[in-house]
Amino acid sequence: MARSTKPLCCATVLLLLAVVIGVLASTARADLVISKAERRVDLTSHIVRVLASLRTLTIRLPGGRVESYTRQPNAKLVDSELKYGPSTDLPPFSYSPVIVHFENNNPFAVAREVVREIEISHWGNVQITEHYNIVHGGARLKGEFSRIDYQSRPYIRGVSSFRHLIARLPPRAHSIYYRDEIGNISTSHLWGDSKKTQLEIEPRFPLFGGWQTTFTIGYGLPLQDFVFTANGKRFLNITFGSPMEEVLIEKFTVKVVLPEGSKDIEVSVPFPTKQSQEVKYSHLDIVGRPVVVLEKLDVIPEHNLYFQVYYSFNNISLLREPMMLITGFFLMFVACIVYMRTDMSISKNSSSHLAKLQWDEVQATVQKIQGIFEQYLAVHDKLEASLRDLSRTGDIQTCKAARKAADAQFKELSKELKSLLTSLQSSPQSYQIWPKVCRRLDCKGEREMQEKLMTRHSTVVDSFEKKLRGQDVENRIAQQQQKIAALRQEIESLLEYISEI
Ligand SMILES: *[C@@H]1O[C@H](CO)[C@@H](O)[C@H](O)[C@H]1NC(C)=O
Ligand SMILES: *[C@@H]1O[C@H](CO)[C@@H](O)[C@H](O)[C@H]1NC(C)=O
Repeated sequence: MARSTKPLCCATVLLLLAVVIGVLASTARADLVISKAERRVDLTSHIVRVLASLRTLTIRLPGGRVESYTRQPNAKLVDSELKYGPSTDLPPFSYSPVIVHFENNNPFAVAREVVREIEISHWGNVQITEHYNIVHGGARLKGEFSRIDYQSRPYIRGVSSFRHLIARLPPRAHSIYYRDEIGNISTSHLWGDSKKTQLEIEPRFPLFGGWQTTFTIGYGLPLQDFVFTANGKRFLNITFGSPMEEVLIEKFTVKVVLPEGSKDIEVSVPFPTKQSQEVKYSHLDIVGRPVVVLEKLDVIPEHNLYFQVYYSFNNISLLREPMMLITGFFLMFVACIVYMRTDMSISKNSSSHLAKLQWDEVQATVQKIQGIFEQYLAVHDKLEASLRDLSRTGDIQTCKAARKAADAQFKELSKELKSLLTSLQSSPQSYQIWPKVCRRLDCKGEREMQEKLMTRHSTVVDSFEKKLRGQDVENRIAQQQQKIAALRQEIESLLEYISEI
């Protein structure tokens, strides 16, 4: 049976070891299994391992220099093994202290705190996440650290530092990651076979005495390798400690996150731990997942024993989350459909939509009106042209025919304009433009102009027939000419306004 003591580690390494020889006579020390006629203390790592025994004491040293040790008549130092005994006839409860001063450059990896979270998902995965805060618990580095020095002669300069740690993961570990608060650390190596997976991680800098680093490793394990069923209950059977080799953990916390809905939780650990429970919430959880928390101080690799967490879990609970998702999506789509439909029907009946349609109608009508006015002006221009032709050719007949055609066109246009104005007036949206468009023309301006145009045309033709002098004709039509120009001006400005609507 192994025991650990916290390493006392100093500069060139001083280890005070008090061995109570009186133990030899006492069978009452329950945690020491006395099975061999020898007591061994193994100091080759920074974790002191003591094998219980009788009569002799053997201390295995790491192999460096031995400065001094307690000299006793029966003490013997052979290579790196220090032997006391065998002693005979010792009185009960007698003891004598032994002090050994030796060199030990082992990397004293000490984890101040490790939190190991084991999350069970019945969808086939056991997810492990381990947070480490590791310090080099050995002799402190004196002076400044020089990376150049270190890199040129790492094994001389950095003899007491360590650069990597090795984690022995279970064989079928997958999705392995290693990161710290800055991000993914790529200096890690992974290899493995059917028995184990080995992860070698390298912190961002070598660790010297007193330096520390924090990081997280995570990996997934197949559910069927670690969760079993027995007597209608399920249980997790997994090792307790950290997979890191040769690390002493001062404060170790294991959290087993069970699936939501787990009940009747029981824990079985082969050594005393402080147990408690908490609840963890993650996505889609309603009541949260029960978490078993186990805490233990001073954990060494020998604590890597199997422990079990028993719980009952109904498979129906497994379907709860997918059902929630399906229902959620279904409701979302229903909501979308309802929304789309409602939105359409609302917009068709809404007053704003209606108003828009009416306004579009008004605009179409206004455009037609504009077209009619343009035609008016075109007819007007044709009449003018016929008068000019008359003065040039003297062909009265053609001129009269042109006037007749214009008359017919004017009539036609007037009729159209009237109906358009009526429809415009009946539209509720016309109030926006009615005062300007309709009151301004009021169908009078255009008729007046038409009349004036015709009168002038008749006057000119008449004068021509009577063979009046040009000057007289001018005089006769001068007044009409003015009026026509004014009216035309008005119509053009109206057209301009309309085109801006
Ligand atoms: C993290 O680094 C490892 C190498 O150790 C690499 O295989 C992995 O793809 C990286 N992950 C991310 C997310 O960058
Ligand atoms: C847990 O697993 C280990 C290793 O596979 C096995 O030896 C041990 O019997 C298991 N414990 C239980 C309670 O099944």
